[in-house]
Amino acid sequence: MEYHSKFLWLVLVLGGSMKFVAMETCSMTSPCTPLKGGQPFREPRQVRSTDGVFTYNMTVDIAEFTIDWLTVLRRLYDGEFPGPTFNLKPGDQFTLNLINNLQHPDYTGGSENTFRYPNTTNMHTHGLHISSEIPQDSVLIEIGPEESFQYKYRIDPQQPVGTYWYHPHYHGSIHFQSMGGMDGLIVIEDDPASMPAELAAVSCPDNCQHDKQILLQTFQYSPDEESGHSI
Ligand SMILES: *[C@@H]1O[C@H](CO)[C@@H](O)[C@H](O)[C@H]1NC(C)=O
Ligand SMILES: *[C@@H]1O[C@H](CO)[C@@H](O)[C@H](O)[C@H]1NC(C)=O
Repeated sequence: MEYHSKFLWLVLVLGGSMKFVAMETCSMTSPCTPLKGGQPFREPRQVRSTDGVFTYNMTVDIAEFTIDWLTVLRRLYDGEFPGPTFNLKPGDQFTLNLINNLQHPDYTGGSENTFRYPNTTNMHTHGLHISSEIPQDSVLIEIGPEESFQYKYRIDPQQPVGTYWYHPHYHGSIHFQSMGGMDGLIVIEDDPASMPAELAAVSCPDNCQHDKQILLQTFQYSPDEESGHSI
C-alpha cells in the first residue's frame, strides 16, 4: 500500500508539471527549460592550409547567439559557435594571430585556479604533439583585453591524422570562455596517396562532402552565481 500510494503521487506530480510546461510561453522574460533545440544542423566553417603554410587571424569578442527563444551574449571566436575548423597537414607551418577584442575591466587577482580574468585568453591545441614553448602551445601566454598574440605552430611531420580540439587555456577564464562557446576543431588531414582508395572516395580531404563534423559542447547560459562574471 505504501509503495502504491507513492507511485500514484509521482504520476500526479508528473502529470501536473507537463500541463504547466504546455501552458507556458517561453521567452527571454519568461524562460523555461529544457531548451527544445530543433534548429537545422550547422557545420563549423572550414579553413585550410595550402602548400604547407597557413596564416589565420582569429578574433575573440562578444557576440549574440540564439537557441530556441533564448538569445545570449557569449565570448566567441569570430562571432561563431563553434569556431572555424582548422584543416591542417602534418609538417605544416601554422601562424595564428589571436586578436582579443574583449575590453577592460578584467577581474584581476585571485590565485591560478579560481575564477578571474574573464577577458584574458590564450590558445591550446588539445591533443596535438606540439611544443609547449612560446610562440607555440604555451598555456602560460596571457593575451589581455585589447591585446593580440602571434602563435607560430610547427605541426609535427609525425603528427597522427585525426580530429582534435582547440580552446582557451588561461587558468581562471577557461570556464567562462570554453563553456561560453570558445571551442573549435582541428583536423589533421589524411594524405589521399596513403589512404585505401575506398576510404579516400568517401572522406576528406578529397571528398569532404561525405564527412559531418560534430562538436559536442556543454552550453552554460545561466548566470554563474559563484563567480558573478558570466554574461
Ligand atoms: C592579419 O593581421 C595582420 C596583422 O595583425 C595583418 O597584417 C594582415 O593583413 C591580416 N590578414 C588578414 C587576412 O586580415
Ligand atoms: C569584457 O569585455 C566585454 C566586451 O568588450 C565588456 O562588455 C565587459 O565589460 C568586459 N569585462 C567583463 C568583466 O566582462
